[in-house]
Amino acid sequence: MENVLTKLEHEITADILLNRPENEIVDNTVLVHNYLNSKDLNRQFLCGLENRRLDVKLFYQGEQQAQNWINLCHSEEYCHYRNFLKFLKSIVLQLDEIIQGDINLISLGIGDGEKEKVILEQFLLNRQAGLFMVDASVDLIRSSLKNLAQLGVAKEAFVADIVQHNVIKDIGCYAKKSNRDRINLYTFMGSTIGNVSQSAIFNILRETMKPGDYILIEFHVRSSDENYDSLGMVKEYGGDINRGIYFTLLEKSGITEDDGDVSVEYMRHHTLPFIDVIEIYFSFYKSKIVRFFGEELYFAGGEKILMESSCVYTIESVIHLLESYGMKVVKTFQDNSNHYLTTLCQMN
Ligand SMILES: C[S@@+](CC[C@H](N)C(=O)[O-])C[C@H]1O[C@@H](n2cnc3c(N)ncnc32)[C@H](O)[C@@H]1O
Repeated sequence: MENVLTKLEHEITADILLNRPENEIVDNTVLVHNYLNSKDLNRQFLCGLENRRLDVKLFYQGEQQAQNWINLCHSEEYCHYRNFLKFLKSIVLQLDEIIQGDINLISLGIGDGEKEKVILEQFLLNRQAGLFMVDASVDLIRSSLKNLAQLGVAKEAFVADIVQHNVIKDIGCYAKKSNRDRINLYTFMGSTIGNVSQSAIFNILRETMKPGDYILIEFHVRSSDENYDSLGMVKEYGGDINRGIYFTLLEKSGITEDDGDVSVEYMRHHTLPFIDVIEIYFSFYKSKIVRFFGEELYFAGGEKILMESSCVYTIESVIHLLESYGMKVVKTFQDNSNHYLTTLCQMN
């Protein structure tokens, strides 16, 4: 009975996905499912300005911002992208040994696709795989497709918000429907976990992951006895390229460097003492009326907008977090500097 229901659930989900009018075919091969459009994103930007708190996915929107982020990752200004990538290369053989059988790789927030390339180049030596790429930025999906063009796997892309209810669940079911005998391997890399609501994403994963499925998650970590900002986040987030990314976003609403400045704050989480929070704020020098998407918003001098926030965890807090959301930690990988932790998990 359960099998019949699961099968039906997959069939229905897959049909809904395939019939969505916004779907398009890119380069004659890749089916791109569009769940987000520029109107939704502008509305979310407006809502973020109203609430003085912007959603991080807004940073990667548009060709210029996608390229700015890629430039940042390859610059001397921000080391964590390169360090995570190097670390992944050092553990991919072990991952290949642990995860058995054919897979659907479902990347949550694929960025430029470099990490999925590292995993798939190794995994394809021993198995079949398909790639399902999810990202809110259509421009980063395009970059990934370019980057992964030579990789011999079937690809599909989903321009979607990973914390929008049911989207990941639909995609997980759809992948299984496409390749029934494969397990789903979700990747959630680059410490994107620290940018989104943890309860939202873990609740979604709990509803989505099936027995046998895996998820690989990258976390920024510090030892519990390490001092303030041992990863140098204030410096990493405060560089010129990052400032450029924040201002390019704000300029959409007419806010410029003449109106205020950006600052980085690093603090312990207010309620969870084993998690540190990095917050980037824009502060207005003087009052300003901002006009965007048909609305007028008033900001007083000294007011702030939270532009981005991210987290640094202790290793103990990662394990506690994963287990409290019902995950079984299959293996943890920690780099020599103790600043990067990758966890391979299944749902209990
Ligand atoms: C920090 S980057 C990491 C990219 C890549 N996974 C890596 O490790 O290099 C975050 C990525 O997640 C995407 N992203 C952030 N929030 C998202 C959301 N709510 N829904 C979908 N994608 C999101 C961004 O567009 C970006 O590509």
